[in-house]
Amino acid sequence: MPNLILHPSGPLRGHTAVPGDKSITHRALILAALAEGDTRVQGWVPAEVCLATLRCMEALGVSVEESRSRKIEGGHGQETGPSQDLLIHGVGLRGLREPADVLHCAGSGTTIRLLAGLLAGQPFTSVLTGTEPLRRRPMGRVAEPLRQMGATILGRDGGKLAPLTIRGGDLRGINYAMPVASAQVKSAILLAGLFAEGETIIHEPGPSRDHTERMLAEFEVEVEVKAEVEGRGAAVRLAGGQRLIGGGTLTIPGDFSSAAFPLVAAAIVPGSDVRLTGVGVNPTRTGLYDLLVAMGAEVRMGDAETRRHGDSHLAASPRPRVSASGHGEPIADLTIRHSPLRAAEACGDLIVRAIDEFPIFAVAATQAEGTTVVREAAELRVKESDRIASVAGELRKMGAQIEERPDGMLIHGPTRLRGAIVECHRDHRLAMALAVAGLIADGPTEVHGAEAIGDSFPGFVETMRALGADVAWSE
Ligand code: S3P
Repeated sequence: MPNLILHPSGPLRGHTAVPGDKSITHRALILAALAEGDTRVQGWVPAEVCLATLRCMEALGVSVEESRSRKIEGGHGQETGPSQDLLIHGVGLRGLREPADVLHCAGSGTTIRLLAGLLAGQPFTSVLTGTEPLRRRPMGRVAEPLRQMGATILGRDGGKLAPLTIRGGDLRGINYAMPVASAQVKSAILLAGLFAEGETIIHEPGPSRDHTERMLAEFEVEVEVKAEVEGRGAAVRLAGGQRLIGGGTLTIPGDFSSAAFPLVAAAIVPGSDVRLTGVGVNPTRTGLYDLLVAMGAEVRMGDAETRRHGDSHLAASPRPRVSASGHGEPIADLTIRHSPLRAAEACGDLIVRAIDEFPIFAVAATQAEGTTVVREAAELRVKESDRIASVAGELRKMGAQIEERPDGMLIHGPTRLRGAIVECHRDHRLAMALAVAGLIADGPTEVHGAEAIGDSFPGFVETMRALGADVAWSE
């Protein structure tokens, strides 16, 4: 396998789009399949994790047509790669069929957890599995509430690890307080709730991403979102048996979690000035933006517009505020210039709102004046890798001063990084974070295992090169 080679780079400049949002794509594939009518999905990118969901939905009897129609725009106006449209022929709420084989979710936590919820509602048996790292990740958090709803779910380690065998059907709604703020768990329960008798109510301890709620509303499902219920955190309520009305077009915004890499790269590479266009800025996702502002970065979010189901153009809406009940997804351009950074503290809701961004946030923190604190973030230990151990361990190889804590890390800065051979632990976000660190290191950096980047950002190297980064695959 080739490695990713980086050299210290001059300023990053220009503008670029980023690939379509993966979280939203998974949901589009699943909800459009359950809808009545054909739904077009525009602007998705065939990242490995989304392909896993697509293949599983096909195995469940859903037919999907692909067409390559639009281009992703690169820096300086170049085009760096094709984007794709999908036409999903919805089968309706009760139209899925028993799969003939095990469903393979690759390394995708979102695929396996959302599908666990979907399959809990089906009157047949299915088996979900994935890569070895996925089979190590906790599934009890999703299996437990689904069992309470009436599904039979078997798995390794007493039903807590995949492969999961699911015998669904005959569900009843539940009133469930989630122990961790997780959009994957919330979404699994909501999907199961669509098939359940009566009402499903979910209380969440923190503001996890609300793409499922927004998209269900786009398909004309009534979902009630309340900010606070009886001191038990926000609540989402859904009545079972509702039909999903398809027939429109869903446009997938650029993935904020992919934009995070060029965003931080421009913040730390001297002289940089970059604009990222059409990025999803749902407030449940933009914790890193707030952290960069707190660090003193020269970053701006343009006025947001909201894309709605069936819109062929964009409807203007005010700058987004935290409102979990909004329809559609806000998008905006992000601009950033290099500037000195100061240390920040990440804890509480910011952890949930930046949950996927800590590998790249840690890279920014190595360049900030003072000690950056990340706490209340034990969830980072059960992501694609143990992101506290892997981020600290690999960045230390480059000279970063990072202390691990059980629920976070302390990052002392600013540090002059040095090029090194680093390993990405089969974690796409760690690979891209290390690549960005390589742009400001003295000497060359080699990222081993960087093919994992294809899990989420297939055009990463081209996008970064177009902005001026010295990055290439080894021979
Ligand atoms: C996701 C939710 C988050 C996030 C993951 C995608 C989703 O996971 O880390 O990359 O699409 O719902 P959790 O729900 O486990 O926090």
